[in-house]
Amino acid sequence: MFSTTQKIGILGGGQLGKMLALAAANWDFKTFCLDPTPEAPASQVCTGFTVGDFNNYDEVLAFGRDKDLLTIEIEHVNTDALRELERLGKTVHPSPRALDIIKDKGLQKEFYRDNDIPTADFEIFEDEKSLKKAIESGRWKLPLVQKSRTAGYDGRGVAILRTLEDLTTKLLLGPCLAEVLAPIETEIAIVAARNNQGDVAVFPAVEMDFHPEANLVEFLLCPARISPLVAAEAEALAEKVIRTFDICGLLAVEMFWTKDGELLVNEVAPRPHNSGHHTIDSAHTSQFEQHLRAICGLPLGSTNSKPPWLSCSICSANPVRKGLFAMKVWKNVSHWKA
Ligand SMILES: Nc1ncnc2c1ncn2[C@@H]1O[C@H](COP(=O)(O)OP(=O)(O)O)[C@@H](O)[C@H]1O
Ligand SMILES: [Mg+2]
Repeated sequence: MFSTTQKIGILGGGQLGKMLALAAANWDFKTFCLDPTPEAPASQVCTGFTVGDFNNYDEVLAFGRDKDLLTIEIEHVNTDALRELERLGKTVHPSPRALDIIKDKGLQKEFYRDNDIPTADFEIFEDEKSLKKAIESGRWKLPLVQKSRTAGYDGRGVAILRTLEDLTTKLLLGPCLAEVLAPIETEIAIVAARNNQGDVAVFPAVEMDFHPEANLVEFLLCPARISPLVAAEAEALAEKVIRTFDICGLLAVEMFWTKDGELLVNEVAPRPHNSGHHTIDSAHTSQFEQHLRAICGLPLGSTNSKPPWLSCSICSANPVRKGLFAMKVWKNVSHWKA
């Protein structure tokens, strides 16, 4: 039954937690965030805020004990505590099982391979030394993409190795994987949602443009400049991925549309995503409201877009770059990425 009296606990109190809490406040849901930083963004807007470590078993367990429903705004959380909370009768979305796979890029890629989800070919390595040996023996050829298995985000756990010199300057230490460098034509993301009745809804594909140095998504373009046929294929793939992970809530699916005409899944995030911020203004349902609808067992909202939208995650600090990008897009210059 639908009730706004249930207490929703969110692990993490960053910007995503803040926007989730704001969406929840529209419906009188009570939100409680757990974050190590006392002045974390969500602390200003949630009903209750607990300073604590979402990676610590005891702290997550103590935080969850008086909540009805637990969710996340960051995937690197203590899943053993979430499993225990599930055992105590709490509802936890996304499931700790899915989180454990997604948190480890090695397990995530194996999941795609085992479930016939197209992804760039890869191999898991114990550490950087064994990857280096595989390159020196000629088994892996440069260029390739090296990724740390855990704790990488916003480009920090990713190195594109092109030359032998890169092996001394760029190699990431520790357990890792090597991926074939995909010939990317367009990088896209689709935010999908699934509720506990198994209904799935997807937002239109978004094109992501990365800042050349920061390796962070700087510009989003929605809808992505891909053909309707490719868009339909990408939506079907996003639906397959969210169903296969058995996620209740949001799942952002990052994909490459390659120059060879292939769609490859790059990685996923089981939460609101920076490629979905524009939905606050551009879609009939925001990704934050959609996540709440999904985890609270409500019907999913319409993912239809209002008119085309231009959004920039760093733009307020850099209006010149935003202006240039807008000109390039609207004048339809084909090689604006140069
Ligand atoms: N196999 C690949 N081929 C080409 N580019 C890649 C590949 N994997 C990652 N990249 C590039 O690196 C970026 C960051 O990689 P990703 O795995 O998404 O890590 P993060 O967790 O930092 O988002 C991607 O958005 C893409 O631009
Ligand atoms: Mg990514």
